[in-house]
Amino acid sequence: MNYIRYERRSYTNGKTPIEKLERLSKALGGPTISIKRDDQLGLTAGGNKTRKLEYLVADALKQGADTLITCGAVQSNHCRLTLAAAVREGLRCQLVLTEPTTGGFDPYASGNHLLFHLLGVEKIESIPADGNMQEAMEYMAQNLMNEGRKGYLIPVGGSTEIGSLGYMACAEEIEQQAWETCTPYDYLVTATGSGGTQAGLIAGFLARQSNTKVIGVNVSRKRENQEAIVRELLHSTATLVGLQGDILATTVRCEDEYVGPGYAIPTKEMIEAVQLVARTEGILLDPVYTGKAMAGLIGMIREGQFTKNDNVLFLHTGGAPALYTVPQLFIP
Ligand SMILES: Cc1ncc(COP(=O)(O)O)c(C=O)c1O
Repeated sequence: MNYIRYERRSYTNGKTPIEKLERLSKALGGPTISIKRDDQLGLTAGGNKTRKLEYLVADALKQGADTLITCGAVQSNHCRLTLAAAVREGLRCQLVLTEPTTGGFDPYASGNHLLFHLLGVEKIESIPADGNMQEAMEYMAQNLMNEGRKGYLIPVGGSTEIGSLGYMACAEEIEQQAWETCTPYDYLVTATGSGGTQAGLIAGFLARQSNTKVIGVNVSRKRENQEAIVRELLHSTATLVGLQGDILATTVRCEDEYVGPGYAIPTKEMIEAVQLVARTEGILLDPVYTGKAMAGLIGMIREGQFTKNDNVLFLHTGGAPALYTVPQLFIP
């Protein structure tokens, strides 16, 4: 297995840091918690999609595309970063956005939506919350073809096996850092949505024969559905890179107790987690992904799921621009 042979663009200088969260660990009285700062990845405002895009955009360029097409919610971090990668590469970018379940979206919405405009999105197509994003993207690509242009479609969250290579590379980076600091991690906790981050990490740790166990904290689905998505992507990623061993027997763990009423709907546990990390460590999480993932880590610690000797690595997957769209949750 040698995934280095895949083409890759480079959007970050060096490794993202791993920091020990001493005050948070003390406040929770559980395992030693560290944080992998993927919120400090390159491209506009960082976050996990930067790693996936290094491989996806390399593939788009190889195929001669001039426009990246992708989709997501109005506050999609993935759309912001895909657009930022397009800007960096001199490509254009068109987005399909799903309207919030609560109704049509505010054309002056802040956060990521504001950044879509600032970064010069070429076109935004909004569809109903239950609309077919894939069909809408294919329609965009067809229109481009009619104009003699070439679009490259990136599915929701960049979660294809090519995108997952970014998180195989991240697992490799974590293993190197663990060796350098003599700190092997027993667990890695991450938010899991479209599944590419978790699938890539599991594949990367398997490739390294690492003992680090990955725990996904769901942001939308039920446990069985999320585990099935991650498992399928793990399998296709492992096939792509020729990873040996019984991949189907690999444990995939996704916790669904911290989703609350649904995707992007705030919970009191998320608010507590975002406040606690800000007030103990001065680090900003986000209300949709990392806030719920940290609520999951806190909940599991309180349930006694880790020992005091465990080393737990929390993956900060980014997302802070969305924090500025919900001041009502944090201003008393
Ligand atoms: C900030 C942030 N964290 C985590 C995730 C989840 O990652 P994945 O979709 O690879 O499961 C996303 C996905 O959009 C995200 O924007």
